[in-house]
Amino acid sequence: MANPKDEVYSRPMPSIEAFRFDQSVADVFQDMIERSVPGYGLVLQLIGVLAEKYGQPGTRVYDLGCSLGASTLQLRRHLPDGCHVVGVDNSEAMVSRCTANLSRDHSAASYEILLEDLRETNIENASIVILNFTLQFVPDEERKNILARICEGLNVGGILLLAEKVKFENSSEQALMTTLHHDFKKQHGYSDLEISQKRAALENVLIPNTEEQHRQRMHDAGFSVVEQCMRCLNFSTFLGIK
Ligand SMILES: C[S@@+](CC[C@H](N)C(=O)[O-])C[C@H]1O[C@@H](n2cnc3c(N)ncnc32)[C@H](O)[C@@H]1O
Repeated sequence: MANPKDEVYSRPMPSIEAFRFDQSVADVFQDMIERSVPGYGLVLQLIGVLAEKYGQPGTRVYDLGCSLGASTLQLRRHLPDGCHVVGVDNSEAMVSRCTANLSRDHSAASYEILLEDLRETNIENASIVILNFTLQFVPDEERKNILARICEGLNVGGILLLAEKVKFENSSEQALMTTLHHDFKKQHGYSDLEISQKRAALENVLIPNTEEQHRQRMHDAGFSVVEQCMRCLNFSTFLGIK
């Protein structure tokens, strides 16, 4: 069955409220993210590859900001036996749908889905932590501490996958990537009205950093290796190894 179509911003709105991961978004989220984030499907595949390579039996694997569980499912399907998967999200609508989605998957890895703010999540004995387009929604000034706590909770050799929308210092690069991202969305069926209303809703909610800020923050948090492993327009993915 096709995923329900995202029409959240399709009709003119008299005023634009700040974007929230509420029921109306959770209902259409899979369609929304697939048509809005270039490279999203490839990041999910990459998570599967990393799960196989870095998942360690007897450890925990965290998916922070798990939404409907797309990354959580990739982890469960590709981890070696003996890993425990922890999905975390602070949206009730997302967690209830994620729990239903996970219950239909019969992979071996044990799991739990927590309705929790990731800033409260206790990270311990971890071999993998995933932040797939989630850190960008956490207040900027708290990101440093979150990465430090993640690094502390990882075992040596464990990894963080961090995927984010990014911004560019260079104004012509920023303008070009923004235009191409809008063209990508148009080609995937979004109207100019939908693009501009969603953009307004995300204005003070999704705060992007530069690639350099991400790299520096990951090094500062204690990762000994930091590599950019993917970029598609203004969406970048980094791998940190403790
Ligand atoms: C863009 S979605 C992530 C997509 C998902 N990781 C995937 O791979 O499909 C961001 C998610 O992060 C969650 N989120 C945002 N801030 C959070 C926080 N402080 N604690 C927990 N979850 C949070 C939102 O509710 C939303 O479901």
